[in-house]
This record gives sequence, structure tokens and C-alpha cells, in this order.
Amino acid sequence: MTTVYVPRDSAARSVGADEVALAVLAEAELRGADVTLVRNGSRGMLWLEPLVEVATPQGRVAYGPVRADDVASLFDAGLLEGGAHALALGPTESHEWLARQNRLAFARVGVVDPLSTDDFLAHGGLAGLRAALAMPPADVVEAVVGSGLRGRGGAGFPTGIKWRTVAEADGPLKFVCCNADEGDSGTFADRMLLEGDPFALLEGMAVAAHAVGATEGYVYVRSEYPDAVATLRSAVELARAAGWLGEDVLCSGLTFDIEVRVGAGAYICGEETSMLESIEGRRGTVRPKPPIPALSGLFGRPTVVNNVLSFASVPAVLTGGPASYAALGTGRSRGTQVFQLAGNVARGGIVETEFGLTLRELVEGYGGGTASGRPVRAVQVGGPLGAYHPADGLDVRLDYEELASVGGMLGHGGVVVFDDTADMGAQARFAMEFCAVESCGKCTPCRVGAVRGVEVIDAILHGPSEERAGQAALLEDLCELMADGSLCAMGGLTPQPVRSVLRHFGEDLGLTPVASRDGT
Ligand SMILES: Cc1cc2nc3c(=O)[nH]c(=O)nc-3n(C[C@H](O)[C@H](O)[C@H](O)COP(=O)(O)O)c2cc1C
Ligand code: SF4
Repeated sequence: MTTVYVPRDSAARSVGADEVALAVLAEAELRGADVTLVRNGSRGMLWLEPLVEVATPQGRVAYGPVRADDVASLFDAGLLEGGAHALALGPTESHEWLARQNRLAFARVGVVDPLSTDDFLAHGGLAGLRAALAMPPADVVEAVVGSGLRGRGGAGFPTGIKWRTVAEADGPLKFVCCNADEGDSGTFADRMLLEGDPFALLEGMAVAAHAVGATEGYVYVRSEYPDAVATLRSAVELARAAGWLGEDVLCSGLTFDIEVRVGAGAYICGEETSMLESIEGRRGTVRPKPPIPALSGLFGRPTVVNNVLSFASVPAVLTGGPASYAALGTGRSRGTQVFQLAGNVARGGIVETEFGLTLRELVEGYGGGTASGRPVRAVQVGGPLGAYHPADGLDVRLDYEELASVGGMLGHGGVVVFDDTADMGAQARFAMEFCAVESCGKCTPCRVGAVRGVEVIDAILHGPSEERAGQAALLEDLCELMADGSLCAMGGLTPQPVRSVLRHFGEDLGLTPVASRDGT
């Protein structure tokens, strides 16, 4: 019996993985070959999807990208023994894209059958939760503090400090909420983890519940992720049946259960207070802070709100110990970061590595430059509210502080590449328009400011040229007002991409001579 892996990750399915899986089964039957097909998650090498793997005595061997009509020739070439073929990529783990990474949160994604509890356990699953349950809750909190883990959802707030606040808050009822709204442009790590290793998230949330004294958990997943929702719901049922959730988790005395909620389809529902409103059944609008959710969150109770990747990083902190997690990274950016490489890039996908690599190493090294083969012009880091970095600014190190020092941010680790045909004036306008469309409407600087922002950018782009400088000054004023006066980071950060265009790509707004762009 030979095991063949064909991902059922939705990115792989979108390029034909289901057809490939059917073709593998049909071909095996035709040839009388004894094949077990496993639908794993994706390894994150998206340009090679569908990536088919076969288990050989020497380890797993990869082929890709495979189309259904390649399958017969793959069998002819000895697929089941890892035979040579034009699509052969060699041993999967030795592929240079994977071999250079340090996967902790993504350690099992693409490796295991996402809904096999046995596979999860065989690959280290629950070791973090077992370690946590053997410790007093306060020690778990201090371990997470000591690891230096910062929230991976956007703001980078220290996870352990948040947990400590919830743990020390009064009240018999506390909640753990996972933010899986993943609205940022170019991001897909939450989805891939939910589809590829959902038990990892449940394990991280159970650790949090033990640490802070919570009994109920919610995962808020965006409605655009139907596969992730289905996989997660199945995983919750399986975990409950296995005694990993519910009353007396792993016979420890902990009671903790999880409910999956599907998002309302608005970017602002990813903002944590807005997400809580949405879970409570109301329209997703932002709540003023204070009070912070850690003290008054879901239904007014102390609540941990963390991103999928933050929870999924926690088991490694407990199994390896906080010191070994904290030993990875640079400055105050500790551990590993899951980067998502997208846009006009030759090799897009997931890169999990310890903090410290530069944007150039990511885009040119891992990504192989643009897919179009043209020069890179701009790279947006951190989603729609993140800055556009110019081609000569790619040596910036991808950590929280260094990105902030150049007017950018890491956000959820989304990296979107643009070539030299990109119109950066249109991108600046898009940032304002995005805010105008997605604003929750609660505060004036954002609700009105973003609409005015679009008008001012239009005036710069299409109005009389002698008024352009004055309109640019007005745009700067407006950006300052939005940054200082907005109630949440939606309006507060929209100026970031706009200002980066003003600073680095002024020629596309007609503010600096085009000569500065192409050197002529
Ligand atoms: C407009 C806006 C959208 C956001 N969207 C998300 C999101 O989709 N997922 C997420 O985890 N955090 C998102 N955040 C950040 C959350 O408010 C919150 O900081 C985060 O979920 C906390 O988890 P962490 O500490 O693990 O990062 C968003 C924030 C803002 C202002
Ligand atoms: S900044 Fe925008 S999204 Fe945030 S509270 Fe104000 S109106 Fe709502």
C-alpha cells in the first residue's frame, strides 16, 4: 500500500486538486495499484499547486504542478516509487523553499491529514496542551509572557500581557475568542492553517482557556472561507468526541468548549471590538476603548481575543519552552513570523521563518521577483492599511520596530508585490476609497475624512495642475487628522499607504518629475 497526498486546501483546489485526486484514484484502480489517498493541507508553495506527494521508504517525494492529464504519465514514470518525471521536485522536505524555513505554527500544515486525530497526535499534537495542563495557570501565562510572543493579527500586542490581564480580571465567566476574519489583502495564512491543521488552533485556544480561566470559546471565521469553516466545524466535533474539548478536557478538570461563528463579510468585523459586536449578533461597529476587551469583552466579560496564528504559535512555546521561542528573532520581534507572499510574484506562498530577514530576501530570494519578469516597483506590507515600500527600500528588515521606523507596519504579515507598470496614484486613491467603503461610520475623521480623501486625490490627479501642490498639502492635513482623530486603526492607519505614495511615488500624483522614476 502506498500513500499519495493531494492537497484539499482551497488554493490547491482552485487550480484543479480535486480533479487530480480523482485521476490518481482512477489510475491506481486501472493499474491494480494499492493506493491510499490523503487529502492534506498545502505546503504553501502555491506556484507548485496542485503539489502531489508520494510516501516512499526514503521519505515523501513531490511532483508539481500536476494536472489531471499528467497523472497517467506520472504512473508510467513510477510515481508510486518516487520515479523520475519532468514534474518531479525531489524529496519534499529538501526543497530549498521549505528547507530554509523554520516552521513552528505551520509545522504540520501540508504534512498531516487535517482531520485525522491520530495523525495530529503522531506529529506532536496536544504536547503543548498537556504541558500547560500540568502547570498552574499563572505559570502558563508567564511562559507566554517570557516567550515574547506578540499578537500576529496586526497590532503586535504582547500575547502574554493580554492573557495576564484576563487572568487577573474578576468574574466567574470569561471567554477566549479567535479572530479568523483575515480581511487583509494578500493574506491567507489563517485560512491555510484552518484548512491544513485546525486542531493546532483548538489546542492553542484550550491552553489560553486554562491560563485565564475561561470556559467558552468562539472562532470568528470570514464568510468567504467556506472550506475553512467546514473543516473547522468537523475538527471541533472530532476534538469534542476525543475529549480534547468539553467537560474535563484530557481528564484535567478543565471545562472548555468552542463554537464556530461565520463572519458578516465586512473588513471592519476583523477589528476586535467590532468582531465581538458581530458575535453578539449586532452590526459590526467599533466599540470605544477603554474598556479593553481583556476586561470587558464578549457580553461584557473578560475576553482573550487573539489571531489564529497567535494561538497556533502557543503550543510550540510550551513544548520547546519560552526561552527557546524567545531565542528566535530580532529585537522585540521574537519567534517566527508567517509571511504570505502574493501579488505579482513568481513564487507566491507561505514563508515561516524567524524574524530577521529583509523584504528583499523575501521578495527576490523566496519569491524570485515578479511573475511578469518586470522590475519590482513597490511592495505593500501589512494589508490595505500598510505602506508601499519602493524598490530601493527593500533592504528593510521585516520586524515590528524597523518597519515602523520607515513608516510601515508588519500587520498580519501579508506581502503584495507590484511591478513597474503599477499606477501608484491609483493605489493611493484605492486606499482612501477602501476606507470610505469599509468604514463602520462611528467616527467623523474616518467616515467623512476618507470620502474627502478620495475627492482630494481626484483633484490632484485630474484637477488644474497649478492647484496640485495646494491639494497635496490638504491631503497631508487630512492624513494627519485621520491618524490623530480616528476612533480605531481603520481610519487611523489609512494615511499610511497614502503617505507612502506621497513620499516615494510622487510622480504618479504629478507632484515630482517622472525623471526620478526611470532615471531619464
Ligand atoms: C480595521 C481592522 C481590521 C482588523 N482585522 C483583523 C483580522 O482580520 N484578523 C485579526 O486577527 N486581527 C484583525 N485586526 C486586529 C484586531 O483588532 C486585534 O488586534 C487582533 O485580533 C488581536 O489578536 P492578536 O493580539 O493575536 O493579534 C484588525 C484591526 C483593524 C483596526
Ligand atoms: S475609524 Fe472608521 S472604522 Fe474605526 S471607528 Fe471610526 S468610523 Fe469606524
